[in-house]
Amino acid sequence: MSDPQSSPHTGYRILEPSASASAEASRRIFMTEVLIGLSKKPKSLSSRFLYDAVGSDAFERICDLEEYYLTRSEFEILRNHADTLVERFGKRPINLVDLGAGDGRKTAVVLEALAARGMDVRYVPIDISEPAMKTVVAAMGERFPALPIEGLVSEYFDGVRWLSEQTERTNLVLFLGSNIGNFDKAHARAFLQQLWSALSPGDHVLVGFDLKKDIELLLAAYNDREGVTAEFNLNLLDRINRELGGNFDRKTFRHFATYNVFSGAMESYLVSQERQRVFIGALRQSFEFSPWEPIHTEYSYKYLDEDITDLAYFAGFEIEALFYDHERWFCDALWKVPGRR
Ligand code: AVI
Repeated sequence: MSDPQSSPHTGYRILEPSASASAEASRRIFMTEVLIGLSKKPKSLSSRFLYDAVGSDAFERICDLEEYYLTRSEFEILRNHADTLVERFGKRPINLVDLGAGDGRKTAVVLEALAARGMDVRYVPIDISEPAMKTVVAAMGERFPALPIEGLVSEYFDGVRWLSEQTERTNLVLFLGSNIGNFDKAHARAFLQQLWSALSPGDHVLVGFDLKKDIELLLAAYNDREGVTAEFNLNLLDRINRELGGNFDRKTFRHFATYNVFSGAMESYLVSQERQRVFIGALRQSFEFSPWEPIHTEYSYKYLDEDITDLAYFAGFEIEALFYDHERWFCDALWKVPGRR
């Protein structure tokens, strides 16, 4: 383990580098997954590859769109319920653990509530990417100069497990923004079980779920008028061109997002509008597309209250509270690992 990179109060640690942490290893994983995904029928690419620098920037713009209600709804929940959320920890010292902090705006609402109660809090963002960690540590350090920040550059579970073993503090883990919705149901269960097993009795998690609602609202959220979501999705083809020497012509593909009433997920695709062959230099291989052939790029699962309850119990958590926005479009669920430290 390396030393914190700046002062003992504001910095980050790099846990034992995981096999997937280096840039070269990330590129190999991307290459392999593109090869597998475009060789399959139906073709698919994992949504985690949507987030290079350009994609992350597009996603930030999506969060500000009128149609993309998710961010607004979750902000409303945090603004209205952050006090109730933090008051249940009394005066216990807290690690506020952030899995996927993004620009940190939502986390800041919780931190402000903790600070207003004068609670002893340490902020622990966890991210596999060191550049992303530098950004979040700098941004939160500037916003909360007196806040002890100790980020962990690691896989989520390695970071949570290490933290849980190191500290007597109660961990409050944030997994916000409906990120859980990008896992299919089996992976969502597995993810939460792993999170549970990395935590200690008395630790809490706050998970953001987008709820099932009028299908027109869902369709609009993933097919915005300005075409920002289309840009976000099509950037995946540009990324393959940039990083793997592909020759995708993005004009011949279109973004298509639809709601699957059986699975309860928004599904996003890139659809080839013509018969074509695309060459990817790094793979030394071409891939054939029939007219109107899709590449699946993302699931965004929507939940009912009962799905949230089932998921909590399946993974071993107790349900402490469910917080909603006024429309009941979104839910932040507070769960606890049973027992006390
Ligand atoms: C990050 N994730 C929860 C977003 C979602 O709603 O599935 C990503 C996104 N895809 C299209 N718009 C936003």
